[in-house]
Amino acid sequence: MVQAVLAIDQGTTNSKAALVTADGHVLATGSAPVGLSTPHPGWVEQDATDLWQSVLAAITTCLTSATVDVVGLALSTQRESVVGWNRSGEPVGPVLGWQDVRTAEWCAQLPSTVDDLVRRRTGLRVDAMFSAPKMRWLLDRSDAYVGTVDAWLIHRLTGCQEHLTEAGNASRTLLYDTVDLDWSPELLEAFNIPRAALPDVRPSNAGFGVTKDVPGLADGIPIVAVLADSHAAMYGQGCTQAGTAKATYGTGSSVMTPIAGFEPSGCTLAWLTDRPMYALEGNIVSSGAALAWTADLLGLPDVGTLTTLAATVESAEGVVLVPAFAGLGAPHWDREARAALTGMSSSTTRAHIARAAVDAVAHQICDITDTIPGTLSSLRADGGATVSGLLMQTQADLLGHPVEAADVPEISALGVAELAWTTLGETTDWAAKRSFRTFDPGMDAGDRDRRRAEWAQAVASVRVRPA
Ligand code: G3P
Repeated sequence: MVQAVLAIDQGTTNSKAALVTADGHVLATGSAPVGLSTPHPGWVEQDATDLWQSVLAAITTCLTSATVDVVGLALSTQRESVVGWNRSGEPVGPVLGWQDVRTAEWCAQLPSTVDDLVRRRTGLRVDAMFSAPKMRWLLDRSDAYVGTVDAWLIHRLTGCQEHLTEAGNASRTLLYDTVDLDWSPELLEAFNIPRAALPDVRPSNAGFGVTKDVPGLADGIPIVAVLADSHAAMYGQGCTQAGTAKATYGTGSSVMTPIAGFEPSGCTLAWLTDRPMYALEGNIVSSGAALAWTADLLGLPDVGTLTTLAATVESAEGVVLVPAFAGLGAPHWDREARAALTGMSSSTTRAHIARAAVDAVAHQICDITDTIPGTLSSLRADGGATVSGLLMQTQADLLGHPVEAADVPEISALGVAELAWTTLGETTDWAAKRSFRTFDPGMDAGDRDRRRAEWAQAVASVRVRPA
């Protein structure tokens, strides 16, 4: 029987599963939606049981589509979101999603010494997006175990036997010392998180227990590798050399470029195998979400229809959407800023607004790539929105560099499957064999500068905190 790794990619809007052979061939896939609720402005919640059930549904679809010998599991997960569960493995409270900013005020009152400590130990900054303030919020209401989504799924996949998390996911909590590679006692104290509430941290390919009581799966299958979803995309895109970068277009977006060692500004631990792989990363809060919001606003059924409408006009004709619905992420970091639609005239049509939404996704990526030191040879793109040729061409135009869109838009599952197969002793390097859709820049420099300046002006107009 054909051997396959069962790769699970648990994201904000969907759980996906794929059966992947040792040469990177995808035999079957499955997908199931995940619910999300916003009970108050700035609150973004999910349900831990719903997350788990959606993973099971995706696995079931996958396993009924192909007959294989599952030799291992690989797990990629949304990051920063926090789950609480009790001693019997039952969820406690809601999952606080990464977009949830209910703790923004609490974060703002922390002394600047905490922010200094966070930067020195984690390469991040205090922000309500990260896990530690969310963990504090949950622990203020119940005595629970807390962990990121990888820890929750490992717990469930192992029949509640294991309490483990992966280093790259841990590096997004604000509690993990990215240089010493363990929970930081100083940071635990600063956020008042008891060590006993947290899972143990393991390297990305160190093994995370074996399956137990998972419907459709035999007991005893090893969970071979775990990566955070954005990091898994970087792994899958083969971005390990200086001058390479990837952008993942999800609900939000993440731009990552590898760096030689830890840096105290915008640094993240991409993965930890025999050595740590560090990356500079910029997170955009709203990209796919901005497209979905605009489609909804315009009464369109989906994002595909929105991009088709956007393509009917040459440009947005001066209309700019700044999608700061939950504030601005990297590199602006102003969570109190709010969205704006500017530059409209009486000749503005729905198509111009649609085009402004597409532009907004690309501009936000450029804001981050502008901060990457050195020369960027090209940008590798992945994530659902990369199916839009208009978005990819706009990205190349505004960037002034080629964009290489992966032939498989959802690359996180493949990335973590590749790490699993490598760990199982196979020679992989799938990115070298992958084909890309290449988009070359076609906009002249003057036009690009004018469009970028227009965008910068609109961003400045929504800022609440000084740049
Ligand atoms: O940092 C949040 C990110 O991991 C969410 O990814 O794919 O669910 O938008 P996604």
